[in-house]
Amino acid sequence: MSAAPAAGSGSAAGLMDRIYRHQRHIYDASRKFYLLGRDELIAGLEPQPGAAILEIGCGTGRNLIGIARRYPQCDCFGLDVSSAMLDTARGAVKRAGLDGRIRLAQADATDFDPQGLFGRPGFDRIVISYALSMIPPWQAVVAQAIARLSPGGSLHIVDFGDQAGLPPAFKAVLQRWLALFHVTPREDLPQVVRRLAGEAGATCRAEAPFRGYAVQVVVRRAEAHARP
Ligand SMILES: C[S@@+](CC[C@H](N)C(=O)[O-])C[C@H]1O[C@@H](n2cnc3c(N)ncnc32)[C@H](O)[C@@H]1O
Repeated sequence: MSAAPAAGSGSAAGLMDRIYRHQRHIYDASRKFYLLGRDELIAGLEPQPGAAILEIGCGTGRNLIGIARRYPQCDCFGLDVSSAMLDTARGAVKRAGLDGRIRLAQADATDFDPQGLFGRPGFDRIVISYALSMIPPWQAVVAQAIARLSPGGSLHIVDFGDQAGLPPAFKAVLQRWLALFHVTPREDLPQVVRRLAGEAGATCRAEAPFRGYAVQVVVRRAEAHARP
């Protein structure tokens, strides 16, 4: 169940495939120690029964499997630019017995067509977990995601924060280590998302848990107004 990535996404796909070709086999076991806040994000989704939930940059499918288990009446969708990560995700989803409820597709988050990929124009919940820090044009991804929210829908982001509450030496070491994996914390993420949400008429709430190690942002789109 996959679609071809958008034109121009070849370099992103190639880079991510190179990074994750071997890493994907130890990804879930190793990342649980430092991709903090993902389970809190899942707990905060609180979708209505029947809601459609998309994860952008879904990686190994770890979050989607957690979402599908926690919210059994929802339909789940995931996209990722890396075919290697999607291979791992497909295997994990099948082993979890969730291949009837989680649909996966290959696409570049900076320019994806939900209708072509999944046959729907938007989603009730969109999740972006530790992906914006790996996507250079990350602001375009946030704008796309907000535009794909159904009325009353919400976008939930978790990623590395500005680490403002942590010792400077820790921050310096962490940033050098993350750079080895092509990860760049977006220190202005809350401000940028707030601006993009405002431009779209949506609200935005940001928090910096774990002393700023992580940042969590929720954007909420208003319900559609009933016709008089
Ligand atoms: C650090 S992993 C996070 C995976 C998952 N969201 C999680 O929380 O475990 C980042 C993911 O973003 C994907 N990614 C990077 N650039 C992308 C792009 N331009 N479009 C879609 N996915 C992308 C990578 O292939 C990778 O699977």
